[in-house]
Amino acid sequence: MARPETIFVCASCGHVAAKWHGQCPGCEEWNSLAEERAPTRSAGRAAPPGRAGGTRRAAAAPIRLRDVQADSAPRLATGIDELDRLLGGGLVPGSLVLIGGSPGIGKSTLTTMALGLLQGAGRSTLYVSGEESAAQIRLRAERLEGGAAPGSLDVPVLAETDLDAVLTVLEAERPDICVIDSVQTLAAADLTGAAGTVGQVREVATRIMDVAKHSGTAVLLVGHVTKEGALAGPRVLEHLVDVVLQFEGERERTYRTLRALKNRFGSTNDVGVFEMRDGGLVEVLDASARFVAEATRAPGSVVLAAMEGSRPLLVEVQALVSPSELVPPRRVCNGIDRNRLALVLAVLARHAGVATGSADVFVNVVGGVRIDEPGADLAIALAVASAARGIAAGGAAKEPPAAFGEIGLTGELRSVAHHDRRAEEAAKFGLRQVISPESAPTLRDALRAVLAVEAPRRAA
Ligand code: TYD
Ligand code: MG
Repeated sequence: MARPETIFVCASCGHVAAKWHGQCPGCEEWNSLAEERAPTRSAGRAAPPGRAGGTRRAAAAPIRLRDVQADSAPRLATGIDELDRLLGGGLVPGSLVLIGGSPGIGKSTLTTMALGLLQGAGRSTLYVSGEESAAQIRLRAERLEGGAAPGSLDVPVLAETDLDAVLTVLEAERPDICVIDSVQTLAAADLTGAAGTVGQVREVATRIMDVAKHSGTAVLLVGHVTKEGALAGPRVLEHLVDVVLQFEGERERTYRTLRALKNRFGSTNDVGVFEMRDGGLVEVLDASARFVAEATRAPGSVVLAAMEGSRPLLVEVQALVSPSELVPPRRVCNGIDRNRLALVLAVLARHAGVATGSADVFVNVVGGVRIDEPGADLAIALAVASAARGIAAGGAAKEPPAAFGEIGLTGELRSVAHHDRRAEEAAKFGLRQVISPESAPTLRDALRAVLAVEAPRRAA
């Protein structure tokens, strides 16, 4: 018997190679190639990738754009406002939405809620789960039925991992909206690779898309992503689907953010903030107010006026600086990028007289929010300086100071986008002292304003 042919597929870009490479020839990622058996079809001629069953469609003819029917499709509003807003007004019939996030973040909860609310509003739905048994799904739905999403117990479920079985049901039922939880657990029987491999994930998504486009079913594909975004799968789907939503936060924490990384039907500039409660996910509309109310007035705490997409958001940044014997000392951060922390610490030491070379530094964005913008630099620097000096930022004032701005390598502060909206948000929640590049041209000036002490000049 002939040895089954194997191929090597890159987990991050899907590049296919005939032999193993340490570095992917496609995207130059290291150690991302995984061996898979070459896809084989059990029946019929090999079909071109992405065409179900290899059947030929009727000859296609181009149409002048003017003659294309473009009735703006009525959206399926889920009733979860933050989700609808991110989607640009609701789900578009026939579209494919990928929801990525780490395990335990709330993907199944959110998608079950969406289905429950839509079912309750008279839409036909289908929840396909390859991960949990129908009984487990029922337990979740019971919590949601009594909480954030009445209607959840009326959602039809299909606990199935075989792609063909799922497609058969989809074609027969033609629901308005369907959830596939998760895309990594379904497998096409005519492909030899295991569920979750790049080839399977792509095949599953493509064939579901084929069916959904014809029946007008809006599909929510759930995809697991590890912390490093490494797991094979969702990445290779990003170009295929219409919308990519990313669920972020930490599962032990209450707050989660949902953001659109790609959206063919709306903007990608938006973020929804959710809180995981006992009866499901609840939208947090007053996130700034909560974070400000919870902010401490202890040394090491500063409020960052961030922009989350097109929305200003006030979050507390906390720092702890403690003497260390370790070489190199620890740098631990939650919610910000490590490299940005390294830059901020270097500029603090070099240009503002705050040296942390022999101390462990911990920085945390409170509430599990992730901030990914250079505008966070100044707040991080002020929190670290305040912690290092043991002086509460903002002195005796009752409310904490708010800060935003990018730090340049020479210790200057650089303007960031939406200066006005950030300052307005701070004012709206009673934060009177706002430190920004507009009020302090250098990091040294900012420290003077917030800590009310003169930073020592660096001995040259
Ligand atoms: P889940 O949606 O299963 O996460 P994912 O599908 O992304 O892996 O649920 C995440 C966590 O939320 C789980 O630990 C249980 C918790 N949870 C609540 O706190 N309240 C609820 O109402 C529900 C349904 C879940
Ligand atoms: Mg799940």
